[in-house]
Amino acid sequence: MIKTIFLLFMLSLFCLCNAQNLGALLFNGNCITCHHPTKTISAPSISEVKERYKKAFENKEEFVSYMATWVEKPAYEGSLMLDAIEKHELMPELAFNKEALRVISEYIYETDFTKYETAY
Ligand code: HEC
Repeated sequence: MIKTIFLLFMLSLFCLCNAQNLGALLFNGNCITCHHPTKTISAPSISEVKERYKKAFENKEEFVSYMATWVEKPAYEGSLMLDAIEKHELMPELAFNKEALRVISEYIYETDFTKYETAY
């Protein structure tokens, strides 16, 4: 029994270290409160944000790098969603370092939020 619990614990640690899962964890813990997968509520849905960024940057590296840089310090300058700023006001600055924001941005790039299952 103890062995099984230990194994499960190790397995979950392993999963947390996996970048994709870490991205999911960080996104669900910090972004989804404002960015619903598909519905615009207090902020544009993450599907809408992703679509806008994909239109501007098809290349994954450019997408990730631009998004991580913008989210680190949200500003009018460099925004791809000036219409959303007018509607909802500028996104607040969150205390994340660039590396964490890159992991989150990669996760956003890879995830199809229209097929996303959440409790919402
Ligand atoms: C407190 C609410 C809130 C949280 C939390 C939040 N956002 Fe936002 N976000 C907004 C609002 C409002 C906008 C639209 C206005 C804007 O673009 O500044 C936005 C816009 C954006 C944009 C588009 C930027 C542009 O204008 O080009 C990106 C990308 C983004 N958010 C990513 C994230 C990520 C990643 C997280 C989690 C780490 C996150 N947001 C957490 C409120 C939030």
